[in-house]
Amino acid sequence: MPGDAEKVIRLLDIKLDKIKIKEKSEEDLETQEGVLDKFTLETLYYLAKRKLLTEMYGVISAGKESNIYWAKNNDVDFAVKIYRTATANFKAIQNYIRGDPRFKKIRKGIRPLIYAWALKEFKNLQRASSAGVRVPKPVAVKNNVLIMEFIGANGKPAPLLKNAVLEAPENTYKIICDYIKKLYNKAELVHADLSEFNVMYPGEPVIIDMSQSVLVSHPLALDYLKRDIAIISRFFRGLGVEVIDENDFLNEVTGGVQ
Ligand SMILES: Nc1ncnc2c1ncn2[C@@H]1O[C@H](COP(=O)(O)OP(=O)(O)O)[C@@H](O)[C@H]1O
Ligand SMILES: [Mg+2]
Repeated sequence: MPGDAEKVIRLLDIKLDKIKIKEKSEEDLETQEGVLDKFTLETLYYLAKRKLLTEMYGVISAGKESNIYWAKNNDVDFAVKIYRTATANFKAIQNYIRGDPRFKKIRKGIRPLIYAWALKEFKNLQRASSAGVRVPKPVAVKNNVLIMEFIGANGKPAPLLKNAVLEAPENTYKIICDYIKKLYNKAELVHADLSEFNVMYPGEPVIIDMSQSVLVSHPLALDYLKRDIAIISRFFRGLGVEVIDENDFLNEVTGGVQ
């Protein structure tokens, strides 16, 4: 009934005043409309009630599948990734989730798939972090909302590797190679979208964007690993770094067992 829906929305508006969602500009508001639907607002309210968020600021990044917001819990900055439930590429998402034993039973429909996708990124970030790979520390996940450590300062995100000025690119390359190995051997993960766009650089490389990362047992894990290695090698070759032969590095990562 429209009357009921209105009531729910009014109630939510009142509740949301408490999280102080701050729109910076009309432009922000427009981008937010595609993401901040009623369910998402309810989820944000849930997180606020559990004292995980106190303020939401503007959009840092508006992507195809998610938006990233700068948020705060009292004085501490956080990044909030909100996955779109309306315009996501479901075919592609299913390809990365199918065959993952952690997500065997997902209810039918778009929302459960997106919620599983958010949970997958949360779990992947946890695994990576435990393996000693520098990633944003995951804080909480609920439905399509993920809260994680903010990489940057004062609401300004650190540059991406692509735009960063590297003092010692050889060193950065070595650290990323070490992370690829740790991901594979300790976290048992392949990033599967590793590139200069998914590494932030607040003075050291921080790997981000792990919703599509797969377990090494995934049927396409090796293909993804090869692609990750090729893209990272190309980037650093472009910076004049003498990169390891891609096949040799692949063997180094996998121990030659493929
Ligand atoms: N933890 C974070 N702290 C600050 N900024 C972030 C954080 N995570 C992502 N970002 C910013 O948001 C952008 C998009 O994030 P990403 O996870 O790569 O999503 P997607 O590529 O799917 O849109 C990044 O390029 C980065 O600029
Ligand atoms: Mg990305």
